Amino acid sequence: MQTLQHLFKNNKAWAESILKEDPDFFLRLSKLQAPELLWIGCSDSRVPANEIINLAPGEVFVHRNIANVVVHTDLNCLSVIQFAVEVLKIKHIIVCGHYGCGGVAAALEDKDHGLIDNWLGHIKDVSRLNQQELNNLDDTDKLDRLCELNVIEQVSNVCNTTIVKNAWKNEVDLHVHGWIYNIENGILKDLIETPISGQSTFV
Ligand code: CO
Repeated sequence: MQTLQHLFKNNKAWAESILKEDPDFFLRLSKLQAPELLWIGCSDSRVPANEIINLAPGEVFVHRNIANVVVHTDLNCLSVIQFAVEVLKIKHIIVCGHYGCGGVAAALEDKDHGLIDNWLGHIKDVSRLNQQELNNLDDTDKLDRLCELNVIEQVSNVCNTTIVKNAWKNEVDLHVHGWIYNIENGILKDLIETPISGQSTFV
């Protein structure tokens, strides 16, 4: 508590600055959250969801893990998706990766990283599935491309959850997007969007 006192000071200043602009902001939000977006991103401290898309508290529901992986049996991620789709009725799921992702880089190495290697195995799968394309690239391009391919694969995993499949079966207006963020310039790029039909459109 003592050592992190500056964070409480930051917090107070932040809350006061919001109240100055909008005196009912927190009271309103305390009664209801109605975000239209679910963000599934990397835990990397340089890729904070709200800041990157310049949205206020209440506007984006967020799940983050190392290398923005959506695993078919991950109850944590699946619960987030279910709550977002079925309770919050969000309209867009965004899987956002980033170039220079340490998790993706570690998956490309033939080294022992401990427990996390079990998690990174999912990215090794993406690498193996795209081995031919990746083998033709130098190390930097290979990492960049695997970061992109990982996003596309995770979008496919989101689309294949029973939650999203059921939503589409019930003609819910739900879109799944794959984006990638450049930590060198702060800019997002659209990689893929999956419309209501569930048919992937690669861009
Ligand atoms: Co990352």
